[in-house]
Amino acid sequence: MLSHDSKIIIVGGGVFGLSTGLWLARDGYDNITIFDRCPLDNGHYSPFAGCDGASADINKTFRTGYGKELHYQRLAIEARETWLAWNKEIKESTQAELPHGLTPNDKVLDLCGNIFLAEGPTLRDFYVDSLKSMEMSAPEFRKLQFIKGNPDDEERLRKINPKWVEKLHALDGINNNDTNGFIDVQGGVTLADKACTYARFLCQKAGVKFVLDSPQGKLRELLVEENGSQRKVTGIKTCDGLDHLADRVIVACGGWTATIIPEAHRAIEATAGTVMFVDIPKDRKDLWERFDSKNFPVWSYRRGQGDEYYQGGGWPITRDGRLKFGFRGRKFTNFEDHPTASNLRVSTPRTKYTSEPITTVPLYGLKLVKEVIGKAFPELAEFGFTDTRLCWYTDSIDNDFLIDYVPGYSDSLFICTGGSGHAFKFLPLLGRHVKNQLERVPDEFTQLWKWRTVEEGKVCNGLEQGEFGPRAMSRLHMAEPRDFKFTRESTTTTPLQAQL
Ligand SMILES: Cc1cc2nc3c(=O)[nH]c(=O)nc-3n(C[C@H](O)[C@H](O)[C@H](O)COP(=O)(O)OP(=O)(O)OC[C@H]3O[C@@H](n4cnc5c(N)ncnc54)[C@H](O)[C@@H]3O)c2cc1C
Ligand SMILES: *[C@@H]1O[C@H](CO)[C@@H](O)[C@H](O)[C@H]1NC(C)=O
Ligand SMILES: *[C@@H]1O[C@H](CO)[C@@H](O)[C@H](O)[C@H]1NC(C)=O
Ligand SMILES: *[C@@H]1O[C@H](CO)[C@@H](O)[C@H](O)[C@H]1NC(C)=O
Ligand SMILES: *[C@@H]1O[C@H](CO)[C@@H](O)[C@H](O)[C@H]1NC(C)=O
Repeated sequence: MLSHDSKIIIVGGGVFGLSTGLWLARDGYDNITIFDRCPLDNGHYSPFAGCDGASADINKTFRTGYGKELHYQRLAIEARETWLAWNKEIKESTQAELPHGLTPNDKVLDLCGNIFLAEGPTLRDFYVDSLKSMEMSAPEFRKLQFIKGNPDDEERLRKINPKWVEKLHALDGINNNDTNGFIDVQGGVTLADKACTYARFLCQKAGVKFVLDSPQGKLRELLVEENGSQRKVTGIKTCDGLDHLADRVIVACGGWTATIIPEAHRAIEATAGTVMFVDIPKDRKDLWERFDSKNFPVWSYRRGQGDEYYQGGGWPITRDGRLKFGFRGRKFTNFEDHPTASNLRVSTPRTKYTSEPITTVPLYGLKLVKEVIGKAFPELAEFGFTDTRLCWYTDSIDNDFLIDYVPGYSDSLFICTGGSGHAFKFLPLLGRHVKNQLERVPDEFTQLWKWRTVEEGKVCNGLEQGEFGPRAMSRLHMAEPRDFKFTRESTTTTPLQAQL
């Protein structure tokens, strides 16, 4: 039986682990330890300081529009309240009351607006649905969403602030302005590293203990006891050789989860999104100004089909002068031998921090990003891309999260992942539902986030493709530094040649 003095180990200190720790500790569970192999304390969740996970990032989109998926829309609107409350708490703190890495001037959510764009003149179905859902369940939020090219909407927007109209047109360069979509002035960007730093601090205040960095914070393997056909996880062994016993082990290791729980390879998969950076020189004040979040929103854009399919976006300039662009029209897999299960290959994150580091991205996505960005922002052509990153998603078979007991372990092992590229915004609330699932208290997400695996013969978000599918990185051309430069072809309107 789970009780408030049960010893709980959470492996992974990203948004799923943090939110779980916070909600459990605030509810009275008093023996919780979060293990993470990264120096999340000294590195403050910065991807440039040894923190290697999806949550350790600069900026992430905060949106409330979710098509017909009202439950996520509701959760996002509710999470927004907490994000704003956190902004307020931070602002009202003195420096001494805040953890390292945060100052009273920091925000965790910046409401710089979201723009959603798709090619062509007709409002995309997903946008129509998102606007309708909002109208139906949160009409006051719908009033703050404005359709591109609709004169009445533009007029309403101008009345709020002419700046918003400028922001709406900041992306007219995309697809020669042949785009449809809307701006949501209640969305924006979460400052991912700051947000995780703050959430970790709240966890500590609530009594959660942390064991960070390698080897002491890195799980080597689960401690499994076999009893006939039933297995039970009794704790974890860390890379310093120590055993840590626990009543429940919650694995929240993002893209690494299936390397720890072999059964999970049929439920979730690590896939890489392509992230490209353009560093703007200090003396280009014009561009620093143009891309500042005061003048420039978070945006996303979709177009095309098949090998031309583009789904990606961009963010305002960071404090270090970096523009970040993401591409997830196709996500890539990297199959390696499973570290503990024999005869099993699983997609495993490979980053600049892994034993075989990687500092480039598949040419496939890079070419598409270059084409879209090169045309939309010709003023960036002279710089080219200055850095790249693979960002590892944890996709479930249907993009819903995976939060449940793992079958076959007598309720000792719990899985908490499957962010599928959209969990960050829910950081303040995920743990509430993890706690419910852990206590087996049904709520509106119980069914949606339950344990489920690939069904034979069905399309399951790419998980069914395996190692020999078209997304396996081993079969793709990787970009060379010279490919980072913008070429004439990427800034003119020559159609892209599929080069695979
Ligand atoms: C490129 C990209 C862009 C995204 N954009 C958005 C967005 O705009 N908006 C949004 O809402 N969401 C976004 N997401 C999704 C969101 O970032 C993720 O859903 C979320 O951060 C996942 O958190 P996590 O806790 O599951 O995993 P992670 O943050 O990856 O955390 C897992 C942790 O486990 C640790 N770990 C792994 N193995 C071990 C081990 N053996 N021992 C100990 N610790 C271990 C890692 O060090 C890591 O800290 C994006 C994701 C990506 C990849
Ligand atoms: C947590 O649980 C462990 C193992 O049962 C126990 O040794 C330890 O004293 C507990 N800590 C607290 C604070 O209760
Ligand atoms: C882009 O199109 C919109 C209508 O959708 C129009 O209002 C705007 O002026 C156009 N921008 C440019 C730069 O032509
Ligand atoms: C093994 O399982 C049996 C039957 O479920 C149970 O009676 C027994 O106590 C278990 N043994 C251990 C060591 O857990
Ligand atoms: C994230 O974006 C905001 C604008 O919304 C920007 O002010 C901030 O500097 C960015 N974060 C970092 C780490 O640069």
